[in-house]
Amino acid sequence: MSTRAIEVPTDAELLQAQADLWRHSLYYLASMGLRCAVELEIPTTIHHLGGVTSLPDLMTALSLPTVKMPFLGRLMRVLVNSGVFASDNNSESGEELFRLTTLSRVLVHGVVADEHHSQKYFVLGVTSPHYTEAALGLADWFKKDTVPPVTSPFEDKYGVPLFDEKTALLDKELDDVVNKGLAAHDNLGIGTILRECSDIFKGVESLTDCCGGDGTTARALVKAYPHLKCTVLDLPKVIEKAPPHDVINYVAGDLFHTVPPSQAVMLKLVLHFWSDEDCVKILA
Ligand SMILES: C[S@@+](CC[C@H](N)C(=O)[O-])C[C@H]1O[C@@H](n2cnc3c(N)ncnc32)[C@H](O)[C@@H]1O
Repeated sequence: MSTRAIEVPTDAELLQAQADLWRHSLYYLASMGLRCAVELEIPTTIHHLGGVTSLPDLMTALSLPTVKMPFLGRLMRVLVNSGVFASDNNSESGEELFRLTTLSRVLVHGVVADEHHSQKYFVLGVTSPHYTEAALGLADWFKKDTVPPVTSPFEDKYGVPLFDEKTALLDKELDDVVNKGLAAHDNLGIGTILRECSDIFKGVESLTDCCGGDGTTARALVKAYPHLKCTVLDLPKVIEKAPPHDVINYVAGDLFHTVPPSQAVMLKLVLHFWSDEDCVKILA
């Protein structure tokens, strides 16, 4: 038992600390609430209801047991608090109404529209039991002494790295969800990049999209810049499933072995995944 004196907070500080303790300890419920909303297809359902709904109408549309109505109300309040949905009151009846926000709009699934890429599988992947259990093991991971390179908590727990050829052997469903989530997430911003960053592609004749996934970015690039010779490098399992294209050159390989030469190499949403040492190798 330590005899070191501990600072006594003021009453106001203690109350704030208690509120913060609740907030931080239960914060995972914001994530799980989002996962629950996606699993129940709440964003898609509100979209089909015209983008706005009352709680009873949402209950009916979701075909949930009536006894769960108060709990759906609580879930919706958590999600409003985290910005997934917005709420206001019907000016005549005063009834609370829930609306889609930009965030929940990107979770609407099964709707085909320009630049709409449902992020359903991104949410299901990153909140999956495999991911959350790896996070629950963080303290044990810290305590474990290993020789470098240090493997991630995910790899340490499951024996395979994230986004690896071997993930399918670990869990076929996880691999499928993660790949769909990755593709949706990677495609989310390409329209914005082309509009906001068009200058960076000016004068470029050939480009390798290194770790370019299924080539969606490359297809958008050659559409915007028809003269551009575009090569996509990614792992064989990704390239095998990439839709064929008459202009884009797909190369299956490993960026640590060979990067097909071009005037420019693009690394979009890539470096964050690797260690500093690996990033130095990639950039070299
Ligand atoms: C986060 S995604 C980025 C996809 C793409 N750049 C985009 O923004 O649309 C990372 C990609 O890196 C690929 N990848 C992972 N390790 C790789 C490696 N060693 N060599 C080539 N590609 C790899 C994955 O298959 C995945 O498609």
